Amino acid sequence: MLAELVEATFPDKSMRILDVAGGKGQTQAALRRAGYENVVSVDTRTKYASGRPNYRYGAFDWREPLDEVDLLVAMHPDEATDHVLLAAKHNRVPCVVVPCCIKPSATTYHLNDRAGWMAHLRRLLPEAEQQSLPIHGCNAALVYDPRGAPRPTNAAAARLFLRGFDASQLDDAAAVAVAAMIRERLTPRPECSNS
Ligand SMILES: C[S@@+](CC[C@H](N)C(=O)[O-])C[C@H]1O[C@@H](n2cnc3c(N)ncnc32)[C@H](O)[C@@H]1O
Repeated sequence: MLAELVEATFPDKSMRILDVAGGKGQTQAALRRAGYENVVSVDTRTKYASGRPNYRYGAFDWREPLDEVDLLVAMHPDEATDHVLLAAKHNRVPCVVVPCCIKPSATTYHLNDRAGWMAHLRRLLPEAEQQSLPIHGCNAALVYDPRGAPRPTNAAAARLFLRGFDASQLDDAAAVAVAAMIRERLTPRPECSNS
């Protein structure tokens, strides 16, 4: 689902993507299936990151130079969440981040609820737009593009969201309404309301 959002928003398949907190590599694999060939993942866990092609072992830190990266992508990046948003902001590099658990590590954060966590992340990068993925639980995605490229329209985003359903009979307004109704039922899942 993340790869589809990336594709809808950043269709240039030659972009050099850094998949932060890549874990087992599912996001990288999905991006490659979608046609992105320049994807490198970084993760702090040796079992995932060591000795694998297109993987880097280490802690992503927003204070380090961000060279040769056109797009930052992060799916449930845990302690790297703040870092990705701050790196995007300071380097003016686009990003797509799907935050999950409340695990700030680059900044101070005292609250303990999902809404406060999202507000904290929005403050780090106010220019980011919030979208949602068609998944259960923590499905908010923060999308930032400093170049101001056109965003998918509401109808295009809704059709993306409804991928997997047969929405071909729906006109744009109906697709937007159905997607909104499903989103409402999907969020939030109680176990995602806290870290
Ligand atoms: C919940 S997993 C998500 C993995 C993957 N993106 C996915 O969706 O399946 C979080 C990952 O973040 C990694 N991580 C946490 N802080 C990090 C940092 N500063 N830099 C790189 N990886 C980090 C952890 O090692 C872990 O593999």
